[in-house]
Amino acid sequence: MLLPVTPADIADLRTFLRDVDLTVAGLDAPTVRLWIERDTSGAVIGSTGFELSADAEHALIRSVGVAPGRRTAGAGSRLASFALDAAARAGAMRAWLFSRRSGPFWQKLGFVPADRDALAAALRDTHQVRLFVRTGQLHREVAWSRPLLRCPGMRDSVQSRTAEHLGAGSEPRRLGA
Ligand SMILES: CC(C)(COP(=O)(O)OP(=O)(O)OC[C@H]1O[C@@H](n2cnc3c(N)ncnc32)[C@H](O)[C@@H]1OP(=O)(O)O)[C@@H](O)C(=O)NCCC(=O)NCCS
Repeated sequence: MLLPVTPADIADLRTFLRDVDLTVAGLDAPTVRLWIERDTSGAVIGSTGFELSADAEHALIRSVGVAPGRRTAGAGSRLASFALDAAARAGAMRAWLFSRRSGPFWQKLGFVPADRDALAAALRDTHQVRLFVRTGQLHREVAWSRPLLRCPGMRDSVQSRTAEHLGAGSEPRRLGA
């Protein structure tokens, strides 16, 4: 079941994201919205999330990860679609992300290569961009982008289907809010 991340999930989520080689910056920040999926034993098997720009026009999709033994069965697409839909419902017009290794996965979801400096400008206040600028990692990153649909009826129906499929029972909320 995909659930909003709570403070009690942060340590497990950090370990999971490190294991799948994703950034852990800003996990407990109120602007970063994250969801976590566990198996029946409580082990983390997936995560997804996004962070909006200050004007809420842009969303940085982040922390989309699937446990290695569960990949290539559609989980990653469902987790990514969930974050895209939640970002659109939050008002974002465009989604962006960094991905050096999983470009073909994102292309199947409608993403095209983007200018990393345009991403950094649109999402300058996000934790991931600030980290990558501060450490010089930005210039080693690969940026991707796609528009988000803003048809309310379509978004709602996609959201319902996605939430139903994932078993997500509650509205997304801001971590720590
Ligand atoms: C990227 C990731 C989330 C994909 O998860 P997944 O559950 O395997 O994804 P799906 O099963 O929904 O894959 C959808 C399609 O993308 C393809 N695909 C998935 N990962 C891919 C990759 N890294 N490179 C190329 N194609 C990939 C799948 O083969 C599948 O193709 P198909 O539709 O032709 O069958 C997973 O590999 C992962 O957690 N990677 C480590 C973290 C990461 O890089 N996250 C992305 C950056 S936020």
